[in-house]
Amino acid sequence: MVRHLRGIRDLTLSQIQQLYELADRFLEVLQQPSRKAPALTGKTIALLFFESSTRTRLSFELAAKRLGADVLNFSAAGSSLSKGETLLDTALNILAMGVDAFVVRHGGVGTAYFLAQHLPVPVINAGDGTNEHPTQALLDTYTLRRHFGRLEGLTLAIIGDLLHSRVALSHLLLAPQIGLSLRLCAPPSLVPPLWYRVGFPIYHQVASAVQGADALLVLRMQKERQKNPPLASWEEYARFYQVKPEHLTEGQVLMHPGPVNWGVELHPALMETSSNRILDQVLYGVAIRMAILYALLRG
Ligand code: CP
Repeated sequence: MVRHLRGIRDLTLSQIQQLYELADRFLEVLQQPSRKAPALTGKTIALLFFESSTRTRLSFELAAKRLGADVLNFSAAGSSLSKGETLLDTALNILAMGVDAFVVRHGGVGTAYFLAQHLPVPVINAGDGTNEHPTQALLDTYTLRRHFGRLEGLTLAIIGDLLHSRVALSHLLLAPQIGLSLRLCAPPSLVPPLWYRVGFPIYHQVASAVQGADALLVLRMQKERQKNPPLASWEEYARFYQVKPEHLTEGQVLMHPGPVNWGVELHPALMETSSNRILDQVLYGVAIRMAILYALLRG
């Protein structure tokens, strides 16, 4: 197995398939009464979160605990960063306590790569700025694999704030490896200009992007990373780019990495639709993160 998971490029197709298969086994464990597979007893995982998180942080914590590992939880707020301690000094001091792997989320692009250069233990990227969120792309595609029984030949439409999305970039890197066809949809102001040259079809109308797609992955509008609305106003964005019940057809799967801004990128009526697989994604995220921790520490 690989030494680090800094981004999707760290994984070969065979390693991706191994992770999906391991996740299948861990999902069975999660459905048993004990919900434990203590394969990492004696190991300690440090969660370094310099940005907010609910799903990624808690599912890594739960994944580590289900595998019998101890967890050290670091949050930037309340830490000695406020006294001027650097990122690397922080990580080296936590390492000195006896840590076997780091999971890191940081606003800086490349933080996981930087830490992996300096730490003698595996580093897992839990989101680095607007760059990548590899474990999210793995759990999204694992959700599709569970639902459809395959990935090869499926079409996934990714709709929303492409410009600020680390999830979208991880999908761009993952899709060609696993045989998934991607469509991208956003207003022109939210498409990174170089993406027009990458070869994936880019749409500026939701109805066209979703027609015939097997699944939709709707992205959160990241208002905190934008000074101005992508169209004339946020209301106008919702009017033209919100995914609404009439966009979905029978059999299509609706996903979102979370957190959802209901009423912005997704119409509130879609909370109840049978296509909605958003909470499945959350459960499968625990299994995928168990697979990643197991593969890096025992694989
Ligand atoms: N999908 C995701 O990364 O959610 P959190 O920000 O809550 O971790």
